[in-house]
Amino acid sequence: MPTMRRVHLTQFLIERQRDKKLINADLRLLIETIARACKAISTRVNKGALGDGLGGAATRNVHGEVQKKLDVLSNEILLEANEWGGNLAALASEEMENPRPIPTRYPRGEYLLLFDPLDGSSNIDVNISVGTIFSVLRCPKLADGRDCDPDEKAFLQPGRSQVAAGFAVYGPTTVLVLTVGDGTHAFTLDRESFTFVLTHGDIRIPQDTEEFAINTSNMRRWEPPVKRYIDECLAGSDGPRGKDFNMRWVASMVADVFRVLSRGGIFMYPRDSKNKDGRLRLMYEANPMALIVEQAGGAATDGRAPILDLQPKGLHQRVAVILGSRNEVERVTSYHK
Ligand code: F6P
Ligand code: MN
Repeated sequence: MPTMRRVHLTQFLIERQRDKKLINADLRLLIETIARACKAISTRVNKGALGDGLGGAATRNVHGEVQKKLDVLSNEILLEANEWGGNLAALASEEMENPRPIPTRYPRGEYLLLFDPLDGSSNIDVNISVGTIFSVLRCPKLADGRDCDPDEKAFLQPGRSQVAAGFAVYGPTTVLVLTVGDGTHAFTLDRESFTFVLTHGDIRIPQDTEEFAINTSNMRRWEPPVKRYIDECLAGSDGPRGKDFNMRWVASMVADVFRVLSRGGIFMYPRDSKNKDGRLRLMYEANPMALIVEQAGGAATDGRAPILDLQPKGLHQRVAVILGSRNEVERVTSYHK
């Protein structure tokens, strides 16, 4: 039997650059650099209690959340890796209050990078999957044709404008999920060659599902449409849906979304009476995940409109998220109308 040809991330990206003309050399280099940073973070996460990454960092981020040492470290790894490549105008991180323009000692490029350096970081100390989420935008030229000014305003583009989005999951294996606009593809980190190998080409999310993911401890605070949807799922074969549902909640969005990509499902972090705008961040979490899910044939809304059509008002804005198998997402969204 002939051995299967392995497609590595580099080859996958070269094909998108040379044959499909979907990305240019700068964007390819940017994605490769992010992937390299994810490998470094994966190594640190894997050290667990043998490294010095577990536990709190004695600092709070811009959202007032206590940072973990690995939050801070992952942020530094991503900043360090991406500053000098010449392909970025600025970076923004969930862990930093303001965007960071590329230092003037390096050349400036045309892209903007946003990331959640370590998603699900409350799970680090208990050895449950965490990850990195990223989003790439083009820095818009100014009205008078001058080069883009990479201030906060430059970042406030609807998710539809993303030119690439992806996430890494640091789980039993490290997986990198990526879209550059021609579907959603995933790569597994081969620990021997330390390269990402294409293992899940053109992922398709099943349209229907019998599995939901939501933090039910917030149930008493949900709005009626979400309460109705979950009540109907819980009623199972005796209720209006006429079938039983299963529930999963990892509390790491990267792991929950990877499960949805792998076997379908619906993932929800709705707004509630405590989190009035939802809990997840539009720019660092919802937008990249929405693009990845739509590119895999799924849907993503805030209950009212597609996430990707929302006009952002602030870099750290929160948003309600309902994403996954198309028919279920459309059902919940219709309950809101
Ligand atoms: O980044 C926010 C996050 O950690 C997500 O990864 C996850 O889906 C969610 O928060 C978990 O929220 P909760 O602590 O309410 O379960
Ligand atoms: Mn997060």
